[in-house]
Amino acid sequence: MPPPDRPENPSPACKAERAKWLREEIHRHNRLYHKQDNPEIPDSEYDALYRELRRLEHTHPELVTPDSPTQSVGAGPSRAFDPVEHGAPMLSLENVFDAGEMEEFDRRLAGLIDDERERKYSAEPKLDGVALSLLYERGVLVRAATRGDGRTGEDVTHSALTIRSLPVRLAGRDIPRRVEVRGEVFMPLHAFEAYNKRAGEEGGKALVNPRNAAAGALRQKDPALAAQRSLDFFAHGVGRVDEVPAISRQSKLLRKMESWGLKVCPEVERVAGVSGCAGYYERIFKRREGFDYALDGVVYKLDRFDLRDQAGASSHAPRWAVARKFPAEERLTTVRAIEYQVGRTGAVTPVARLEPVFVGGATVSNATLHNYGELLRKDVRAGDTVVVRRAGDVIPEVVRSLPERRKGDPPIPPLLDQCPECGSEVALPEDEAVARCTAGLICPAQRRQALMHFASRGAMDIEGLGEVLVGQLVEKGLTRNPADLYALSLEQLNGLERMADKSSANLLAAIQRSKSTTLARFLFALGIRDVGRVTAAALARRFGNLHALRQASEEQLLEVEDVGEIVAGRVRAFFAGEKNAAAVEALLQAGLHWPENEAAPDPSAGPLHGKTLVLTGALEGMTRDEARERIVAAGGRVTASVSKKTDYLVAGANAGSKRAKAEQLGVEILDQSQLLALLKQ
Ligand code: IVH
Repeated sequence: MPPPDRPENPSPACKAERAKWLREEIHRHNRLYHKQDNPEIPDSEYDALYRELRRLEHTHPELVTPDSPTQSVGAGPSRAFDPVEHGAPMLSLENVFDAGEMEEFDRRLAGLIDDERERKYSAEPKLDGVALSLLYERGVLVRAATRGDGRTGEDVTHSALTIRSLPVRLAGRDIPRRVEVRGEVFMPLHAFEAYNKRAGEEGGKALVNPRNAAAGALRQKDPALAAQRSLDFFAHGVGRVDEVPAISRQSKLLRKMESWGLKVCPEVERVAGVSGCAGYYERIFKRREGFDYALDGVVYKLDRFDLRDQAGASSHAPRWAVARKFPAEERLTTVRAIEYQVGRTGAVTPVARLEPVFVGGATVSNATLHNYGELLRKDVRAGDTVVVRRAGDVIPEVVRSLPERRKGDPPIPPLLDQCPECGSEVALPEDEAVARCTAGLICPAQRRQALMHFASRGAMDIEGLGEVLVGQLVEKGLTRNPADLYALSLEQLNGLERMADKSSANLLAAIQRSKSTTLARFLFALGIRDVGRVTAAALARRFGNLHALRQASEEQLLEVEDVGEIVAGRVRAFFAGEKNAAAVEALLQAGLHWPENEAAPDPSAGPLHGKTLVLTGALEGMTRDEARERIVAAGGRVTASVSKKTDYLVAGANAGSKRAKAEQLGVEILDQSQLLALLKQ
């Protein structure tokens, strides 16, 4: 479509026309970019169109239409796999495994909320798919992001747009100005089976299980490939919501989301108390094979949102919801051999090589025996019939052996005193169950595993750097430590098996891209023992920059959520180690970078340091989580119930039994303004 002419002094009507043309043109380029992966113009030209529309709308606000691209994409066009900061964190769920543990959960929850009646739960299937957050602005889908580390995910809008049932525009009434819809992407089982049947006939590659198929599809650059997987989506909640009509409970939210055109799982029910929860579990468990989607349990969520606010959340999971997982599936198979594997931190783990068996949604041919003590305790030997268990993403394990089926008397596998990879000494520290190769990064196995971890998704996320390539890089001496990755050349990569110009160039580009990262990812990538993704993110938040973290004292580290003495010790030992310091320096020299922030203020200097507070009643303009966060940032602690150890009870409107208890114990009671004054000090 040719642009309308641009007269010197356009009349208002012309400007309206120009704005209309710009809107349509930008939408068209968005589609070309996102849906067809086939941009027609360079980014700079796209940006110029976008800026022109912005300027025009700025001087003529009457020209702004709700579906204008400026109203939908806050920070300009989004790009495949760019980091996306979630408006509200995407938390995970605590698990319970039987009715007793569910009762315990319910009892604990009762102590956190000011309502003594039997609790109503929204009971939902726990879909075994991939969590997705959809940002709708003025009802228009502007971005889809994966969970990532819970705070920052990846932009997968281009693949999400292939999900047919996902509305690009919400319909109906009460649509918030901005809403993050949370839910699960899955590959329907009929589509999964059809795909694998066709792959079998055509000699294509079969998909391992529906969950990986969905995750893999979202992470395809080319949306056409995602489209072949016929993905589907069920909404099960919201993240951040701006300007909503008040919705008071989950059951109403789900109905509302349905009215907007989103799909909600039809099996959701509102149930009362633990008996209602148990009944729901039994019903779903009985029917679990009959659904067109994979389930790994059920989820119970407190139905009322005001009570959820009172219960709050830990750094990784809400206290108002819990998953009751199905028991892990178990199958019989035979052990072909027992071998030893060396992990990233040198742990030498016995592994059973198995006759392949389909269990827990995947074919298993290796299962861990954890450590030598376990191997002896379970008395597993080559040739044995064993019970193998696998649940969800958990590593398959040998549950027990059936020695009564054993023929003859095969030998007990020996305890290794030498590393099977590098021949170095294997040490079994006293009071530890795990034997370790003592060679550190000299051991090729440890080097391989460290590199794999470094390149993995939650870490530097270097696409295409898998086990086979890493093996070759280490074997050929091309990478001795992670920083060496950034010095690899096209020729070097071309010299590896199955690599040629295109694949090598792609890998080099992926390596380059990984240089721009976040402090949290970088810390996780370093592979400090016991510092997983969540801890890495918490450390990054608290210290803001690498310098502050390196200098941190044990006390400062202990103040970080989920960091105890062991982890604090590991972090300090890591940065004190000369080799590690050199490896970190080499990475910085290679050009790794991330936005550095000021360290968050030190809570031990805060006005509430050492004080224990309890919150009750409704606070004005502040959720309990916000209040809790501010108290913790000021050095205080928040506990659930009033005792002699409580320093202050913060009582909002309609405070009930906790207030009475505080009065009885002589605990000082603060109202909201007194709390705010204390926080300000
Ligand atoms: S609610 C804060 N509801 O399970 C609440 N999650 O183990 C967190 N999941 O990351 C999520 N079905 O991807 C919720 N009906 C359901 C779910 C569900 C599956 C997944 C979700 C989450 C994971 C937590």
